[in-house]
Parts: sequence; C-alpha cells; structure tokens
Amino acid sequence: MTEQNRAEIVVDLDAIAANVAVLRERVDRPLMAVVKADGYGHGLVPAARAALAGGADALGVTVLEEALALRAAGVTAPVLSWQHVPGADYAAGLRAGVELSVNAEWALAEVVAAARATGTTAQVQLFVDTGLSREGATPADWPALVADAVRAQADGDVVVTGLWSHLAYADAPTHPTIAAQVAVFEEATALARTAGLTDARRHLANSAATVALPGTWYDMVRPGVAVYGLDPLGGVAVDRGLRPAMTVRARVALTKRVPAGTGVSYGHTHTTTAETNLALVPVGYADGVPRAGGNRAPVLAAGARRTIAGRVCMDQFVLDLGDDVLAPGDEVVLWGPGDDGEPTAQDWADAVDTIHYELVTRVGGRFTRRYTGTAGVPA
Ligand SMILES: Cc1ncc(COP(=O)(O)O)c(C=O)c1O
Repeated sequence: MTEQNRAEIVVDLDAIAANVAVLRERVDRPLMAVVKADGYGHGLVPAARAALAGGADALGVTVLEEALALRAAGVTAPVLSWQHVPGADYAAGLRAGVELSVNAEWALAEVVAAARATGTTAQVQLFVDTGLSREGATPADWPALVADAVRAQADGDVVVTGLWSHLAYADAPTHPTIAAQVAVFEEATALARTAGLTDARRHLANSAATVALPGTWYDMVRPGVAVYGLDPLGGVAVDRGLRPAMTVRARVALTKRVPAGTGVSYGHTHTTTAETNLALVPVGYADGVPRAGGNRAPVLAAGARRTIAGRVCMDQFVLDLGDDVLAPGDEVVLWGPGDDGEPTAQDWADAVDTIHYELVTRVGGRFTRRYTGTAGVPA
C-alpha cells in the first residue's frame, strides 16, 4: 500500500468477470448481473463493465439514477431498473434506453405518458408478487395490470420485454415456499402470455436460485451477490468456483506496549491479561466497519487471525497482539478471498450476526477504492 492508501477496498475486476463466466456457463442461458447499490459496494461502473466482460447479457439496478449513471459512463448493454415512486423521471430513463419494471396500473400509466412525451416505445417488464410481499403486483391485481400492458403494447407505447418475480427463500433451496412461488409465477406468466405478451422473457432466479434451483431459471437468471464471489448459500465461495472480489484492509496507525489489566477502548469491554502489544487500526463504524464487531470480528494481522479487542469506535479499533509485533504502517486485513488466511466477508457475517451482503454494501466511508485486474477496463 502507498501512503494514500491508509485504508482501502481493493476490488478484483477479473474475479467479477470470472464469476459471471462460471455462472453463465453453468446455467447456459442469458444472465442479468445485478449491480445495484454501487455494484454491491464494488463500484457501479467498474463492476458492470467487468460483469459484461465476463459474459453478462444485461444489468439490473434498483433505481433510475443507477441506470442513468451506467449510461452516462457509456455502458450500452440492456439495463433494467425496478424501483420507482410516483413522478419518477421515466422520460430520462426512456431517452437513455433503460428498461423499466412496472408493478401497478398507475405506474404503467406514468410510463405510457413518458413514452408519448418522448416519442419512444418504453421497454417494460411486469413484476408479479409471487409470495415475497415486496415489490410486485399481487396475483389479484395482476390481470388488470396485464390487460393495461396489452393495450399499451397494442397502442405502440410499450413493448413488454419481461415478466418477473423474486423469491423469499432461495437461500433455503428445499423450503416449501419455493414451489409455491414457482406455481404462482407459472400461472401469472401463462396468463400474460395468453393475453398476448408472448415475447416477454421470464426470470425469477437470484444468486441462490442460480446456484441451487435449476427449476427457477426460465429464460434468464438474475444473480447479484454471486457475481462478487460471495456464496449465496452462506458456504465457502471457492467450493462453488466463485472468487470473492473484495479485499478490505488498513494500515496500523499506532502501536504501544501496555501492562496487564489495561482496559481497551470505550467501556473497557476488553482488558489485557498480560503485558501486551496493542495496535490501532484507523477505521471504524463511520467507515462501515460494524460496531458489533467489537470483541467478535476477526482480522488478519502479523501473520495470524485475531479478534478485535474491545469496542469498534467511529474511526478506529484496537488489536491486542500479545507479544507479536506490528509496526505503524503494517497491514491489517479485515476480509478478502481467504487466500492468505485472512477472514472472508462470510466469516465477518457469522461473527456479527448479519449477511455478507450488508457488509460489502456498507463498507465505504473514508476507505479509498482501488481496482486490480483488467476485465472491462476501457483500453
Ligand atoms: C429483485 C432482485 N433481483 C435479484 C437480486 C439479486 O439477489 P442476489 O444478490 O441474492 O443474487 C436482488 C437483490 O436483492 C433483487 O432485489
């Protein structure tokens, strides 16, 4: 690390491309790489470009701003955006050739108005709620939404390119809700096709379903977390041919020798048991390091895994090294692919009782981000 890299998130673009290639080959059908939430914390545009270099056919984002940022960066691949509120700037999305997910009649009406105002035909995907009770039209509201979409398509205002839904329990592949959601999806998509939406692609599978539930693959899969090399089933990513793309590390800011019985960090929730070396790591919860990691989360430092000593503060945490030695400037790895014995994001998730999704998307703050690899990097 250089002087500028006091604390950095290193993203391996080649790993992102390789993960997409592995998934794409395994499912042998089109793949939409989900790059919402700043590419799950890996950087929206670089992650998108790397995923496309790995063979992704399309990109998925939540909000229009993310889709427009991709277009502004010159990304021309199909992009679907799926979370909008009334008055969303659909016209900007349509001018940028962004596919819009629609889940209510009023939303479709707004898209139709924007299509007319811009003189475009909106590419629309209809989202059915098959049991997650989140985004998506309920099965009760679905026939009316489909009927409106059929009319709008006949009028030339929209073309329905997708019929889709999202699973509640894909990470528990034998859970009975999966078959129930698939049954609702089958019925809803059959209704739409019978009504005339024959060209729309059906898609349902997130990462866990892409890995474990071939019966949900339909016409396209839609993985997110697996693209970044994180095992959607909470296991060991490399066992699935996936490689974690993110490494999080910082340089020691200060070391000190203290006697036995020294209380460490706020509230003295850690007390040294012998004379020992302490090392100060200059990242904290303001940088997205979970406060819950105090006395629980692992790091790799001075060649061994160690647990954070005492509370994680806003800007820093402390390690109790015993007689091992670190010098100011030495590296501490919070998580990475695990190659050198460092913890993985999954290890952190287990330690702080969350999911790796949350860790990689919220780490940031004053970390700088650096990219390695060449996948998708413009020449
Ligand atoms: C609608 C939708 N599809 C796909 C995904 C990708 O999910 P995962 O990261 O579990 O693959 C998400 C992410 O939560 C989502 O909200």
